[in-house]
Amino acid sequence: MAYKVLLINPNARDLESEMRMLEERGLQMVGATCFKEAYDLLVKDGTIHVILTELIIPVKKRSKETLSGAELFGRFLAVRYEVNIFLFTHETDCAQFNTGGLINGYFHKGEEDFDDIAAKVKAEVISSKDRAPFFETLVEYARMDKDAWHTPGHSSGDSVKNSEYAGDFFRFFGENLFQSDISVSVPMLDSLLEPKGVIKEAQELAARAFNSRYTFFTTNGTSTSNKVLIQTLLKPGDAILLDRNCHKSVHYGVIVAGAEPLYLMPSVNNTYGIFGPVPKQRIIQSMDAALKAGKRLKVLILTNCTYDGLIYDIKDIVEQAHARGIKVIVDEAWFGYANFHRAFYPSAMAAGADYSTQSTHKTMSAFSQASMIHVQDPEFEGIREFFQENFNMQASTSPQYPMIASLDAARRQMAMEGYALLQRTLELAAALKKSINALKKFRVLELEDLLSDEVRNDGIRLDPTKLTIDVSASGYSSKEIEHLLLTKHNIQIEKSTFNTITVLITIGSNYSKLNRLVLALANIQRMSGARRESESAKTLRDFKLSLSRIRFLPRYAFYAASESVPMRDAAGRVATAMVVPYPPGIPLLVPGQLITEDILNALMTYRDYGVEIHGAPDGLLKVMTPAEEERLAGQGREMTPLELV
Ligand SMILES: Cc1ncc(COP(=O)(O)O)c(C=O)c1O
Repeated sequence: MAYKVLLINPNARDLESEMRMLEERGLQMVGATCFKEAYDLLVKDGTIHVILTELIIPVKKRSKETLSGAELFGRFLAVRYEVNIFLFTHETDCAQFNTGGLINGYFHKGEEDFDDIAAKVKAEVISSKDRAPFFETLVEYARMDKDAWHTPGHSSGDSVKNSEYAGDFFRFFGENLFQSDISVSVPMLDSLLEPKGVIKEAQELAARAFNSRYTFFTTNGTSTSNKVLIQTLLKPGDAILLDRNCHKSVHYGVIVAGAEPLYLMPSVNNTYGIFGPVPKQRIIQSMDAALKAGKRLKVLILTNCTYDGLIYDIKDIVEQAHARGIKVIVDEAWFGYANFHRAFYPSAMAAGADYSTQSTHKTMSAFSQASMIHVQDPEFEGIREFFQENFNMQASTSPQYPMIASLDAARRQMAMEGYALLQRTLELAAALKKSINALKKFRVLELEDLLSDEVRNDGIRLDPTKLTIDVSASGYSSKEIEHLLLTKHNIQIEKSTFNTITVLITIGSNYSKLNRLVLALANIQRMSGARRESESAKTLRDFKLSLSRIRFLPRYAFYAASESVPMRDAAGRVATAMVVPYPPGIPLLVPGQLITEDILNALMTYRDYGVEIHGAPDGLLKVMTPAEEERLAGQGREMTPLELV
């Protein structure tokens, strides 16, 4: 593989001859004589993997102003975090300059050993990012074609290959999947539950790529990653501040940990039925209120970016939490690529958060369920064993190896070409936006449209790769459009609200898909004639939500004696299960919560609009029996309400 090196030398003539020497040794070269030129090349050319630079360089051509040492390297990393930086200089005493631990190596110019430079640069790129130790070992093992006297029962596909009834299963998935779907009894493939070999190495490479101290692979989605962290960081009775709109795995984690949830209401954009970020002041004031009330507040968890692509001013929030001794988990299920393009910086890790969880499968190239936990908590060593216990509690003892390999391969891809892929994704997103807006009856929402007033001054940004499209002018409801796209045009979108649809542009998108979507929308527009906005959409738009108090810890309620009652009879009772209209996916009820008329009205409005309601089978709600309520109250288990803003 010919790696591309950006060589920086203020002397243009020397630069040219050095480039030639290195090109002759198999490196691809681009050159710059000042920071500005180097910066422009880094922004434009995503295939640059390495920077070879002088210690001090002019900011611009012929300018007296210079940049050096840690400041210079920091500026490079602020554009492209994943590049390897080497010094190539006459300077012999680098220790006198503050290099901030940000460089990967040093070459002395006077020695003119270009063979050494070419060899070491290649070796560093390979050892730090261009390898996938687990994936490569799995391939090697599969090719050995060993006789299997262990699980899984299909024995490298032998049980299905010639079967009349399962041969199609084998042929569809192919030999490689069966050969690589092997059991944990193969030592050369390491153990996910106690990594010491190639999985450990793969995780270390991921930690480097994602800017964490430690990274752990999980094979049951970010749902598992979230539960592992919550169980690790919270003991029964500890409190956690969580966005009410966070993923249900967080709510389940709270139940298992026996923690006290302090819910933060997200901002709501009623015009489009979108739950946005939690207002910054609400987060800060709630931390203070909880601590003042004597709560054992240990953790703040937020989802960044939100499902609709709204990005918090996360660094400031992390600093505010840390100043109060509170750990921060950021659920980056939808934002795993944030460390690979400056359009999205900073990722949670770069912003100083203690933990982040990412669905590598959602937005990068890993298989479904493949997820990562990134750790930066300076106190992690003290809880590492407990973390491992919780990890083991949630993990399968038979993790799927192709899935682990996909994490390794997806990481390598992002470290090597993530910037270029994301650059292209951003260009595609801009092109798609322009084409959709040109259709007139469809409009891509801007940041200003998505924000509600309460978060307008919170420094929130929009991830341009998540496009929310207002479909109300088309006269079709979003559900009808979703249906038409799927059935008539073979296009599956990500989600919808009552008057919007959302599409994700990922590193796998391309101009063909883009234009198929535009043509499909143009066709729907033509068919819409003189239709008007549906009435049911308006009903949902005007509806307001006020949540009720939590009477008992979710854990007590979850395990309490309960009965099922029709929705209309449930007012005044205590929920023992989570009830979630989907979309939007925010739980209207969590175990332990008092059921009010307001909430029942909201549930019925959703139901009448045809929204799927999870947790209310046949319109019945699971509630605590009166005897159980009395028993728990008698034991002093009723919670003192904490009024959060
Ligand atoms: C914010 C958030 N966190 C976590 C998850 C769970 O991720 P996974 O599907 O990888 O289990 C999701 C899934 O949609 C999500 O939206």
